Amino acid sequence: MSLLDAPLVVASNRGPVTFERNERGELEARRGSGGLVTALLGAMQQVGGLWIAAASSDADRELAGAANGGLVDMAPFGGDYRVRLLDVEPDRYDAYYNRISNGILWFAHHSLWDTVHQPVFDDETERAWHEYVAVNRQFAEALAEEADRSVEPPAFLIQDYHLTLVPRLLRELRPDASIARFSHTAIAGRTYLRSRPGRIREGVLRGMLGADVLGFHSQLWAENFLMSARSLPGVRADLARSRLIVEGREVVVRIHPISIDASGLREAAAAPEVAALRRELNRWRGDARLILRVDRLELSKNIVRGFQAYALFLRTHPEWRHRVRFLVLLSPSRMDLPEYRTYGEECVAEAELVNREFGDEEWQPVEVRVKDDYIGAVAAYGISDVLLVNPIYDGMNLVAMEGPLLNRRGGVLVLSRNAGAYWRLGKHALAVNPFDLRETADAIFRALEMPREERVRRARGLSRLVWSNPPERWVRTQLEDLERARLRRRIG
Ligand code: G6P
Repeated sequence: MSLLDAPLVVASNRGPVTFERNERGELEARRGSGGLVTALLGAMQQVGGLWIAAASSDADRELAGAANGGLVDMAPFGGDYRVRLLDVEPDRYDAYYNRISNGILWFAHHSLWDTVHQPVFDDETERAWHEYVAVNRQFAEALAEEADRSVEPPAFLIQDYHLTLVPRLLRELRPDASIARFSHTAIAGRTYLRSRPGRIREGVLRGMLGADVLGFHSQLWAENFLMSARSLPGVRADLARSRLIVEGREVVVRIHPISIDASGLREAAAAPEVAALRRELNRWRGDARLILRVDRLELSKNIVRGFQAYALFLRTHPEWRHRVRFLVLLSPSRMDLPEYRTYGEECVAEAELVNREFGDEEWQPVEVRVKDDYIGAVAAYGISDVLLVNPIYDGMNLVAMEGPLLNRRGGVLVLSRNAGAYWRLGKHALAVNPFDLRETADAIFRALEMPREERVRRARGLSRLVWSNPPERWVRTQLEDLERARLRRRIG
């Protein structure tokens, strides 16, 4: 049986939904936030399979502890796939998720440290790393069980930086497993990544190298990974064929840009409650043009510089005052990390500065809404004139796809050159260096002044690109790579 038809087993830290109990005690499923869920959910809905994830709410943990080992059929919640929830002990989860995954790996991959003061590693880091290893082992064991349970050998798709060790641990448990591993983040250059303690750096690289196929969103991230991995003892790089030979085993490195479930999103946007929200937003914006940003409240998204660039634009172009509004929708994220809480405060304070400098009784130039509001974002996408996506570094950035797909006004995309999405969408966007306020302010101005014909041409180009890369293709290309790897292994 080809792996293209094999049972699919996905593993990621965050599952597609979080379960909650309502007042009547019934289970309800709330969609997880972030790009990984957005993309994989689209793929799973179309391909089906099993998704293994860590329990993250009380109801999740209750399900994880059930006699069937945490297996949940998603059919009653509108899904055509199954979820298996793993119960991770809370202190262990804190060390694995907050300290290592988000506190170190995320920061390293997105170059977020102010290196004069950060990072500082100590015994606490070592302890947390132990827990990270333990959680990765728990996932690997659950995946190995699935391999035993399945009649046909499954295709394993392991996601992201929380589970970097799983490919290697799973390979130790099931040497013949077919494993693809995907990085949803940016990957920093090798010199920056050397800031991580040696044990963590090497552990992560060797962990990932347990896979047969390593996927990245863009060429740059793949190249950065290759440059880091090739420096490990026992690893040989064959750059011409984009592969690494690890102790005689081949690991191929591939670029598979992810996309969104365009038809699903269009359907969501057509719901009456979205139409009502759109009307409400239209009333709020009045005659003004609308600049929109939609993000997780996340350091790498560069939200503060976004406000500073907007202020610069208003300072340089007073003729636009009262004629434009900036709506900023931020969903709270990783609030257990002090850096995220402080950054949230900085964002709100910066927005207030803009309102104080330029606002008056009739007009507030910025509105910030901090809440998990997917439907609100879907509504706002439809009616914006400019979408600002200016991350410092970003693995892909799906907002840059969702916005243009739903926009009805020939909205212009202002896009950071450091977002993975730039490689596909850049030619139809206004590109900015995320650190350059002047360039960003000028791009906002240019977007607002752009003739309708050009706006529509660019918007159509963006929308076409989004439609041309459905999520099931992202899964299929990885399975094709895995199948080729399996055949080569058999011949070799
Ligand atoms: C974004 C990132 C992913 C990450 C996800 C979930 O989508 O691109 O790399 O896995 O967020 O992050 P969270 O901490 O909210 O689970």
